[in-house]
Amino acid sequence: MGFKEGFLWGGATAANQCEGGFDEDGRGLANVDVCPTGADRNAVITGKMKMYECDENHFYPSHKAIDMYHHYKEDIKLFAEMGFKVYRMSLAWSRIFPKGDEKEPNEKGLAFYEDVFKTCKMYNIEPLVTITHFDCPMHLIKEYGGWRNRKMIDFYLNYCRTIFKRYKGLVKYWLTFNEINMLLEAPFMGAGICFEEGENEKQIKYQAAHHELIASAMATRIAHDINSENKVGCMFAAGSVYPYTCKPEDVWEATKKDRESYFFIDVQSRGYYPSYALKEFERMGINIEKEEFDDEILKNNTVDFISFSYYNSRCAAKTVSKDNIAEGNIFESVKNPYLKYSEWGWPIDPLGFRITLNHVYDRYQKPLFVVENGLGAVDTLDENGYIEDDYRIDYLREHIKAMRDAVTIDGVDLMGYTMWSPIDLVSAGTGEMKKRYGFIYVDRDNEGNGTFKRKTKKSFYWYKKVIETNGENID
Ligand code: BG6
Repeated sequence: MGFKEGFLWGGATAANQCEGGFDEDGRGLANVDVCPTGADRNAVITGKMKMYECDENHFYPSHKAIDMYHHYKEDIKLFAEMGFKVYRMSLAWSRIFPKGDEKEPNEKGLAFYEDVFKTCKMYNIEPLVTITHFDCPMHLIKEYGGWRNRKMIDFYLNYCRTIFKRYKGLVKYWLTFNEINMLLEAPFMGAGICFEEGENEKQIKYQAAHHELIASAMATRIAHDINSENKVGCMFAAGSVYPYTCKPEDVWEATKKDRESYFFIDVQSRGYYPSYALKEFERMGINIEKEEFDDEILKNNTVDFISFSYYNSRCAAKTVSKDNIAEGNIFESVKNPYLKYSEWGWPIDPLGFRITLNHVYDRYQKPLFVVENGLGAVDTLDENGYIEDDYRIDYLREHIKAMRDAVTIDGVDLMGYTMWSPIDLVSAGTGEMKKRYGFIYVDRDNEGNGTFKRKTKKSFYWYKKVIETNGENID
């Protein structure tokens, strides 16, 4: 017994990392367009350095990305060749509402995605749509301060209503916010927030989180009202946190770290703030401003399924020395001595994937969807221009095996798996092109040179076989 029939195999991308066309057909400027590559990127995405306009001293990779805006037909055709059942993608909010607070949408933006969905349908590929994947119209940030402002809920819901109505019959799977817990680590990228000197950052972040949680719950209700077939999921950056040792202090540290991420999903899935968070807010003097019906909104509009990204497990200790830190999907963690590391220093832990799937399922008992998992690596073309990316195949094979164990041995209810990313695209963390994830190579480099030509890698044919056999033949 393997994966269930109809298991949704596919791949995932995000608009700002692949589309390009950042100022075409009326699209407005977004936070993701002012995040440069290079040394300043981290300060910008974390809201420490205010960059509200582009300047000539920086390179902004989202502007052209891999030009999927003009290549989507070719790209979706390649996804179909691999046998994709589902394609997870995001909409650029500012393509549909260029400023964000307009009443009426930009028809050209809506028409673009309509054609993307129709192209998917032509190949029997089900779209899974992230409503916002780290993007927010710049105007909403300049004018209202991003998600720190409650008014954002109305702008977001106007956008949601528009897309749910327009794409009724074309899209039924929706994710409200990509990696909602990333707001804590990368507040500018995650929620359009920059900090002023002396501000209470925690207070601002959790208030913004409250706004996003209300927006997500309301969007779930609207999605169901507009089409009862709609299924709405939450999405978080997962990866269970291990204690560095069995010392109770380390175990406690790991529990606390896990809760930082689970906090969001506890609210979205259970419908109320968990008691550990309320106590913590009290201790820290964090005061969440709520409106009269907020608790009811959260309670009555929980998600239909839970999705997450998994790249690596994490590790925590009570005392950490500076030279014992590992990189990871934005979150740093203590270096786990039992694991191997990727070229970007991310731990590689397939069993950790099974552990995470079990932890999340045990906690929520709702269907899960893995919407990101993959390996960022340097690819080199051989003398024939071919890429033998066995390292990527190895990573994915071991992770898919672990996922299969979680499903077949442990009984986790899993809807599908969209690997990140079927096609090379711009890295969210570093802005690099060199950090490649794809089954499809794109001729584009870190400095913006290249022809955008697509080329299949060895892993393309391997994944095709995985899908053909519903995950049975993965060697
Ligand atoms: C997730 C994001 O955090 O990880 C993606 O949802 C991102 O947008 C992916 O690309 C991989 O991270 P990175 O930094 O290697 O691009």
